[in-house]
Amino acid sequence: MIAFGCDHGGFELKEEILAYLDKEGIEYKDFGCFDRTSCDYPDIAKPVAHAVASGECEKGILVCGTGIGISIAANKVKGIRAALCGDCFSAQATREHNDANILALGARVTGPGLAVKIVDTFLHTEFSGDERHARRIAKIEDE
Ligand code: RB5
Repeated sequence: MIAFGCDHGGFELKEEILAYLDKEGIEYKDFGCFDRTSCDYPDIAKPVAHAVASGECEKGILVCGTGIGISIAANKVKGIRAALCGDCFSAQATREHNDANILALGARVTGPGLAVKIVDTFLHTEFSGDERHARRIAKIEDE
């Protein structure tokens, strides 16, 4: 189960991403927003992050205008590693190296075709499990 959320800045890209998830038969829980009315990205980021951190959802996808605010907010939740990606190399690397559990996208930065490819890469790349990467991830959480 994938947790999905966006603010008004990400609403148009939401439609493209959910169409991709539907086509692939990937289940998701939609945390909003549900129209173009202005809203506050932390109000979306936090429930998505908690759904992932609790294990209710396996991974999350968050979209705002830049992807910056929504990733900063998600990363405040313990256990969340939200990665803002604008290319497929980063999406692959952040899964393999950082075991990122939330993908953040900037709808005003990244076009819909590339964004969907980034989502596909993120969802289909496994964590490498290498000791050095696991060690570094553990150090993120040790405060
Ligand atoms: C909303 O206008 C915009 O600030 C938001 O989508 C995002 O880009 C914040 O980081």
